[in-house]
Amino acid sequence: MIYLDNGATSFPKPVGMILAMEDCMARYCGNPGRSGHAMSMKTGEEIYKSRKSIGKIFNIDNCSRIIFTLNTTESLNIAIKGILKKGDHAITTTMEHNSVLRPLKALEKEGVSFTIVKCKKDGSLDLENFKRGIRENTKLIICTHASNVTGTIMPIDEIGLIAKEKGITFLVDGAQSAGCIPIDVEKMNIDLLAVPGHKGLLGPLGTGVLYVKDGISLCPLKQGGTGTLSREIYQPEDYPEGFESGTVNAPGIIGLGYSARYVMNKGITNIRNHEEQLIKRLDEGLRNIKGVTLYGPSDYKNKAGISTFNIDDMSCEEVCDDLNRKYGIACRGGFHCAGLAHKTIGTWDCGAVRVSVGPFNTKRDIETLIKSIYQISKK
Ligand code: ALA
Repeated sequence: MIYLDNGATSFPKPVGMILAMEDCMARYCGNPGRSGHAMSMKTGEEIYKSRKSIGKIFNIDNCSRIIFTLNTTESLNIAIKGILKKGDHAITTTMEHNSVLRPLKALEKEGVSFTIVKCKKDGSLDLENFKRGIRENTKLIICTHASNVTGTIMPIDEIGLIAKEKGITFLVDGAQSAGCIPIDVEKMNIDLLAVPGHKGLLGPLGTGVLYVKDGISLCPLKQGGTGTLSREIYQPEDYPEGFESGTVNAPGIIGLGYSARYVMNKGITNIRNHEEQLIKRLDEGLRNIKGVTLYGPSDYKNKAGISTFNIDDMSCEEVCDDLNRKYGIACRGGFHCAGLAHKTIGTWDCGAVRVSVGPFNTKRDIETLIKSIYQISKK
């Protein structure tokens, strides 16, 4: 199969990562931070190594402020619900995933208000418009780094400066950018960064990360065993334990550490250039096929490794089904858990076909895809 659904989860994974997970499970997987024996200690050390590797990727100095989670959704929930309280206001965009919009909607019942700034048809954000949405009581700015629907890259540097100037906490959803586009939390003035382990970082499913900058105060979302202060029934708020209650996904986190180092060795700028070239070629091919409507930006500096389109009046599901069954190509059709983003680009009624590339895709994959779409369009 030609796998072009890296926006949902990346495939294939580095073989070394699979071996690292197997090694952990087969040889030493004790419960980290709980017992004093060699297996528990070894697991704890390997998890610490993973934390350090994640820190290096995003220029995070204090790696105890890196919390391991299940996925970006969990990271975003911890951040959003840990920051916003009754009377607070948050500002975000129409290009966000439901993992941002749904927690905000749920918080409305608790007296939190929010503004969703409308983006342009290509998914891009008008900064002046965005600034006008900021209020006296705006406590949190939430923005995706790259849209999971169109790949549109948001002006994170500029928003970071606005947040810093106004003293507002800045949360970035790096679901589609972590490991694919360079992220520097210091340079970009990011206070909270939510990322998946299993997409651009090439780690296993069921892994995610939340970075919380020093000085940002967060209420833990869940309470339970932390392996620390066991006689105390109040939840400790130490980092990272206070935010990682319960036994963690040790093999997954250790695998993620391996794949993060793999991505670093490959070089994120190299990965970015490779993906940009693939998407550029794909879009060029799609533009030459009669009946194809392409969405998203045409400026490739502002587009991640995602291309989204429809063919005439064929449903996106039918196109994906044909690609899957007749041509052995995997991609994702529908609404991508981001209804408002589809409304923004004009596909609210029909959804769209999304192709998302990864570091292992080749030019040949893209040429095969273009030919297949041409064949399907002739139906
Ligand atoms: N949020 C993931 C996607 O966009 C699953 O496909």
